[in-house]
Amino acid sequence: MRKEKEEVLENYNNYVIGSYTRSGIVFVKGKGSYLWDIDGKKYLDFFPGWAVSGLGHCHPAIVEAIKKQADQLIHIANNHYHPWQGLLAKKLSEISFGGKVFFCNSGAEANEGAIKLTRLYGKKKGRYKIISMENSFHGRTLATVTMTGQAKYSKPFEPLPAGFSSVPFNNFEALKSAVDGETAGIIIEPVQGEGGINVAEKEYLKDVRDLCNEKDILLMFDEVQTGFGRTGKLFAYQNFDIVPDIMTLAKTLGGGFPIGAMIAKKEVADLMVPGTHASTFGGSPLACAASLAVIETIEKDNLLENVNVMGNYLYQKLLALKEKHPLVKKVKGLGLMLAMELDGEGNWLVNLCAEQGLLINCTQGNIIRIMPAITVNENEIDEGMEILDRCLGARK
Ligand SMILES: Cc1ncc(COP(=O)(O)O)c(C=O)c1O
Repeated sequence: MRKEKEEVLENYNNYVIGSYTRSGIVFVKGKGSYLWDIDGKKYLDFFPGWAVSGLGHCHPAIVEAIKKQADQLIHIANNHYHPWQGLLAKKLSEISFGGKVFFCNSGAEANEGAIKLTRLYGKKKGRYKIISMENSFHGRTLATVTMTGQAKYSKPFEPLPAGFSSVPFNNFEALKSAVDGETAGIIIEPVQGEGGINVAEKEYLKDVRDLCNEKDILLMFDEVQTGFGRTGKLFAYQNFDIVPDIMTLAKTLGGGFPIGAMIAKKEVADLMVPGTHASTFGGSPLACAASLAVIETIEKDNLLENVNVMGNYLYQKLLALKEKHPLVKKVKGLGLMLAMELDGEGNWLVNLCAEQGLLINCTQGNIIRIMPAITVNENEIDEGMEILDRCLGARK
């Protein structure tokens, strides 16, 4: 191992808290769909930053916006105004459902905001409970990890905050029976990411929306992973002909720069008055400038069209791999949020692909997540699928 790499690993081992499983690769440069490690090896990245680098690594428009903004103004505390937060909020409101926005720095923080807002809303009727879906993922803070419908993430931290329960996904009867007089909100990922790329059924979401209307319950969509074109629409809810009351965003929102947001319908949002919620770094000039560049690029470069065309192309390629390799049981997903379900554990495939220069992800033990940048092109997909084909063939 080269001395430079040894030094990086040593620093991590000695000084960084070991809460992550790491690949052992040290990356030093990125451009578009590609990354380079410290030894100069090139990788095709089909899981860029867990959907953070949704427009690819170091997109020139985002780099330019960050550089320009850093020269002018980096941070302003939220007891003052600056132009870019208002501009971004206006833009997010216009491209979604016309709500108002609270800015923060991550997906978990956006969901925390949604939990607090839902509790404020429920208060007048003595309601505080939130129902989430089994196999969901909403973050790692104490409340969001409790709301996450996977006990493995929350169990070590018991006792957990009160008022959270989860029900099977896409099962309306189970949800309906879980609702009681204290239910204030329901949270759903329209496509479950970490849970294994499970797409919500249209009829199910329509029933959930009707139930929420009937019972005066807030419907929250966690679009932290699905937002900004990933599913072929700007926001995944737009695939389902319904509108949530609250939507949470992060990941691609900043194109690599940390920013999270919670958008809520105006009448709900207005319950957050001074003193109810805050985030010191939330909505800084630098984060907002990066985010404005992300949205402008998606619109200017017609990237939603690219997601639909490339999503279909990749889906067909994955289906062809399924025909060829009996190990692949199923192909699923929406837009460029795709997965292969394997007959058996899949970490070996992720590791082998990485050795061969392709980065993908395995979740839930046997679901191979493939979520390239929404700027991906046909040549890159062909290159990635050749590697995947070769690696799948290595284990007959
Ligand atoms: C759907 C969803 N919600 C919330 C989160 C948490 O986001 P963060 O890690 O930025 O706190 C994630 C992260 O993977 C996610 O996929």
